Amino acid sequence: MSTVLVLNGPNLGRLGSREPDVYGSANLDDLRELLVASARDGVTIDLRQTDDEAELIQWLYEAVDERMPVILNPAAFTHYSYALRDAAALVTKAGLLLIEVHISNPHARETFRHTSVVSAIATGVIAGLGFDSYRLALDFVTT
Ligand code: DQA
Repeated sequence: MSTVLVLNGPNLGRLGSREPDVYGSANLDDLRELLVASARDGVTIDLRQTDDEAELIQWLYEAVDERMPVILNPAAFTHYSYALRDAAALVTKAGLLLIEVHISNPHARETFRHTSVVSAIATGVIAGLGFDSYRLALDFVTT
C-alpha cells in the first residue's frame, strides 16, 4: 500500500465557486473523487488543502519523513514563496518525486504568474489541463 500526498495551497479550498471561468466549477471533493477513482490498486490518495504556508511546509517535511511522493499545487505561493521552494527541494533531494501542478496555464495569464520559484526543484510540471493535470501526475508518480 503506498500513499500519494496531493497538496493544495491558498484559495484552492474555494474551487467550485472561485473564478469558475478560470478554474471550472468542480471542487476539491470532486478532485479527490476523480483521483481515488483513477488510482491504481493499492494506492491511497491523501488530498489536503491549506491557506497557511507553514502548514504546507510541515506537510512537505512529512512527505520526506514518511517517504511519500507529492503532487503539489502551490497556488499563489508558486510565484514568490522561497520558503515553500526550499521545503519542496527537500522532497526531491531525498529522491522522492514531486510534481508541480496547476489547473490553469499560468503562462497564459498575468505576467506575475509566469514565474515559478518551485519549478526548478520539481521533478516535473503539468499545467493548464484542469484536474487532468493532477490525474496525469498521479499516473506518473505511481507508474
Ligand atoms: C494555480 C495558478 C496560480 O497562479 C494561482 O495563484 C492559483 C491556482 C492553478 O492551479 O492554476 O491559485 O496554481
